[in-house]
Amino acid sequence: REVGLTAEAGAATGENKPLLRAVSGEAVWPPPMWLMRQAGRYLPEYREVRAKAGGFIKLCTTPEMAAEVTLQPIRRYGMDGAILFSDILMVPWAMGQGLRFAEGEGPVLDPIRDAAGVAALELEKVRERAAPIFETVRLTRAALNQHANKVSLIGFAGSPFTVACYMVEGHGSKDFHTARGMAFNDPALFGRLIRTLVDATTDYLLAQAEAGAEALMLFDSWAGMLPPSQFRRWVIEPTATIVRSLKRLHPSIPIIGFPRLAGPLIGEYAQRTGVNTVAMDTAMDPRFAASAVPANVGLQGNLDPLALIAGGAALEAEARQILAAMRGRPFVFNLGHGIEKITPPENVAQLVRIVRSGG
Ligand code: CP3
Repeated sequence: REVGLTAEAGAATGENKPLLRAVSGEAVWPPPMWLMRQAGRYLPEYREVRAKAGGFIKLCTTPEMAAEVTLQPIRRYGMDGAILFSDILMVPWAMGQGLRFAEGEGPVLDPIRDAAGVAALELEKVRERAAPIFETVRLTRAALNQHANKVSLIGFAGSPFTVACYMVEGHGSKDFHTARGMAFNDPALFGRLIRTLVDATTDYLLAQAEAGAEALMLFDSWAGMLPPSQFRRWVIEPTATIVRSLKRLHPSIPIIGFPRLAGPLIGEYAQRTGVNTVAMDTAMDPRFAASAVPANVGLQGNLDPLALIAGGAALEAEARQILAAMRGRPFVFNLGHGIEKITPPENVAQLVRIVRSGG
């Protein structure tokens, strides 16, 4: 089976990729763009492949199919970034934790609540079990190189804290009481889990970089639930450790951090983790972020996915406000959280036109 793009997606050569320049700290205008969850159920062509795959994990571990859905939003919209199609929970899965995606229920894991559960995690198996995901990176990069050499391939992982939330809780939650409780009741145990995740995530991201990922993103969706002292310990410190290790081997690979709902701690996160770009959530005021985050650190975000569902004048007004606040900065236009499955695909095309006009 062939995985590819048609030539009109734009052939170019060299390292002149707008997204890589922007996430590395250069102000590019109009800003490059991509959307979190841009490959997904709002696209009929995704639903078609998803139905054939027979399960979400199967889709993530079948390289031809995963590469195909990674490329779909590039073909349809000409985004500047392609994000590897996978999931943050594939790292616990690769360490041997039971995982399934139940229809309409989200992810379900065999929860880890004690020392034996943490000790049973198979860190040394991650590269082997996740090999199909690295193959997806290779296939996608080859397809992008051949036909659309302006598109950057973004690899990703979940941040240790957010992944630990799911591993301990066993499922999605509004508050992750069990996981956050463990961080207070047994910080030594929670710390061992976080350290295991730091090691697994570093290795997993290194393998993606070796396979051809050109930028790496760390998703910390639940970071904003933590009080400041816990945020420093479980979000900033582990992220800084991962970034330091990645930069030792790949000094120039740009890293994007997404500390969702970090609020006023966004500046400290930017300064202390060493990420090249900080992704803003929907609640972040871009003007505040611009003042709190050092000028050489890029920003990404942060349109509300609901404005994208609304479309029309509401979408246009929101998008233009963000563009106005970010002009002159290293910036990548994106959503402030993942695209929703009820999003009309034509609204994404409208957003692309607005952003390409530069506001
Ligand atoms: O296009 C992309 O952005 C790349 C792929 C990607 C997925 N998940 C695919 C996916 C990425 C980067 C993620 C990240 C992810 N996964 C996060 C962090 C970002 C965020 O949204 O806060 C989290 C917390 C997860 C865990 C997860 N995966 C949940 C809670 C769910 C269920 C919710 C849902 O929308 O069904 C998933 C499933 C999932 N991951 C889907 C996709 C496209 C839907 C699966 C399907 O097709 O049935």
